[in-house]
Amino acid sequence: DLKNLGAKKVCLMTDKNLSQLPPVNAVLNSLAKYGINFQMYDEVRVEPTDQSFLDAIEFAKKGEFDAYVAVGGGSVIDTCKAANLYASSPTSDFLDYVNAPIGKGKPVTVPLKPHIAVPTTAGTGSETTGVAIFDFKELKVKTGIASRAIKPTLGIIDPLHTLSMPERIVANSGFDVLCHALESYTALPYKMRSPCPSNPINRPAYQGSNPISDIWALHALRIVAKYLKRAIRNPEDREARANMHLASAFAGIGFGNAGVHLCHGMSYPISGLVKTYKPKDYNVDHSLVPHGLSVVLTSPAVFAFTAQVHPERHLEAAEILGADIRTARIKDAGFILADTLRKFLFDLNVDDGLAAIGYSKADIPALVKGTLPQERVTKLSPRPQTEEDLSALFEASMKLY
Ligand SMILES: NC(=O)c1ccc[n+]([C@@H]2O[C@H](COP(=O)([O-])OP(=O)(O)OC[C@H]3O[C@@H](n4cnc5c(N)ncnc54)[C@H](O)[C@@H]3O)[C@@H](O)[C@H]2O)c1
Ligand SMILES: [Fe+2]
Repeated sequence: DLKNLGAKKVCLMTDKNLSQLPPVNAVLNSLAKYGINFQMYDEVRVEPTDQSFLDAIEFAKKGEFDAYVAVGGGSVIDTCKAANLYASSPTSDFLDYVNAPIGKGKPVTVPLKPHIAVPTTAGTGSETTGVAIFDFKELKVKTGIASRAIKPTLGIIDPLHTLSMPERIVANSGFDVLCHALESYTALPYKMRSPCPSNPINRPAYQGSNPISDIWALHALRIVAKYLKRAIRNPEDREARANMHLASAFAGIGFGNAGVHLCHGMSYPISGLVKTYKPKDYNVDHSLVPHGLSVVLTSPAVFAFTAQVHPERHLEAAEILGADIRTARIKDAGFILADTLRKFLFDLNVDDGLAAIGYSKADIPALVKGTLPQERVTKLSPRPQTEEDLSALFEASMKLY
């Protein structure tokens, strides 16, 4: 592909851990085989920050690259999107493109260089989306850049790249797929989103649930129900790993257009305010709450809360995830989905709620404060929420089982 693009100087991005693993090796062999000139940047931070984005941007600006290849999970692909964007718009201030109200949320009007994304987790679907997420250290909260313009040009979904993933990385990235599918399927319908942008250039990347994204969300959810447990429990199960890798891209196409809502909005302070939590299987030297874990821990409380609005969709999701709904009452849809999710997480040895990853009741005001600026996604919740509602949702997520 790079040869066909006529690329003369390629930026290859990855993280330190992956730089020693088979997916990067495969790409290095291919670059050598076709005589492609490249420079490698392996300083991507797992769960990127504003500073780690800025470091990658500086590398990209200096390199004057004519194409980008990202090999890794969402952390790598998102960092590469930001590097490509700001190297293509060198006079822009970093906050220009960062989501409002934290940044200025300016529309991207400059052309970017081609970006080939090679995902190695089965999680974010970042290869399909116009979103790049980072942790804004000063505010202790995650935010991002959202624009169609930063979508990678090409995604290479090769399940062989996921075989080296350890058990907890498969689990946590798989929970991200689960929540992308559930949240985009239950998001505020596109017809109810307001206000209408005055100019189409301001049309948001996330437009509310719609008949096209519904297809991707439901299809991804069915695959998660069938294959996620198998993919976690048996690294040799190629059928399961391949299907989860596809589900990640499918869910990405769904939520990348429809959007996500409260699990994601509330996850950003859960990650941003991390204290000392060091998850198993992550080969990194800093504390972090993996993205997929930070979204899934609030999912039972969130869907019990949102089901009032589209109970039939919540019940349908519960059925796909294995609930017996033959005698279920529609008004119980939220509780049924919440119980189904709790059982699903319990079976997969997931930490018992926010308390198990270091939070207590005393942290709730800060968690709520960190959720308030996430209106890009929280306003896509089918049910509007007050600060008291958010407090109650965090409180209900302290313990799951
Ligand atoms: N852009 C989007 O649309 C979008 C959507 C959801 C999440 N995100 C963001 O993506 C990030 C999370 O990405 P992620 O869950 O893909 O994980 P990640 O990129 O953070 O990687 C997690 C860990 O897995 C390791 N790893 C990745 N692939 C591996 C493999 N094949 N074998 C062995 N180890 C492997 C990495 O080295 C790293 O240590 C978060 O910052 C999150 O906010 C972005
Ligand atoms: Fe996500």
